[in-house]
Amino acid sequence: MTATPAGITYTDYLSLDELLGAQRPLSALHDEMLFIVIHQTKELWLKQMLHELRLAIELVGEDRFAPAYKAMSRVSRIQSVMTLSWDVLATLTPVDYTAFRNVLGTSSGFQSAQFRELEFRLGIKDERYLSHYPADSHEHSRLLAALEQLSLREASHLALERGGFGLGDRSVQSLAAAWVQVYRDSERWFDLYQLAEKLVDLDDALASWRHKHVLTVERIIGSKPGTGGSAGAAYLRSTIDKRAFPELWALRTEL
Ligand code: HEM
Repeated sequence: MTATPAGITYTDYLSLDELLGAQRPLSALHDEMLFIVIHQTKELWLKQMLHELRLAIELVGEDRFAPAYKAMSRVSRIQSVMTLSWDVLATLTPVDYTAFRNVLGTSSGFQSAQFRELEFRLGIKDERYLSHYPADSHEHSRLLAALEQLSLREASHLALERGGFGLGDRSVQSLAAAWVQVYRDSERWFDLYQLAEKLVDLDDALASWRHKHVLTVERIIGSKPGTGGSAGAAYLRSTIDKRAFPELWALRTEL
């Protein structure tokens, strides 16, 4: 533990001078501040979610399910807050946004390395996204590490194996077949059953966030291309079907 400096203030403890000095609009327009604050808030929440996910992956690896659920529940609650915050952004009209959109240049939420790391740590490991970061950047090495390390999805597979379930060729189909057995005898396998439902909560909430993003984007820029160079809403719509735990969705059809 680090010793608390004598006379520490609220401003010192929270590094508020740094934090509140970090909103630097590039235009003189009133609405740009909201755009910056909402994105910065998202990065802070992503940081906290990654912090909880690291713990959850470790705990699942030790079969310490109850504390792992606690960390996962916290992530879910943060996801709810993030999904709700689209309502604040939706107060930005197309007229307000178009007035300062040009200052964003080619920057885009697409480049959020923490968002990509969240996907990777959950289990959506699409290495093509690495190419969007220079090979010598800290984002690249961070994402590479996340690709190589155990995701929450992989940790859940190992937990299934420790429970004595065979995973076959680890295809979505054979993983679903293993989970079906857990669901069919949920009382006996209560820990794994509850783990699976917590994982579905995370996927569900991420899909809701993605859905609200598309709606907000359509409301604000229609079907214009994104500042990051994608087709815009059409690209975002294609991400709604991404699932970190596809086997847990597939098993439902089999029950
Ligand atoms: C006026 C508001 C916004 C618009 C018009 C917008 C538009 C877009 C578009 C078009 C993309 C696709 C990439 C591109 O071509 O740029 C994108 C990606 C993304 N945006 Fe937004 N966005 C807005 C606000 C936000 C906010 C507030 C957040 C976070 C709270 C956010 C987070 C992201 C993330 C994480 C991606 C990457 C998604 C993925 O690849 O799955 N965006 N955004």
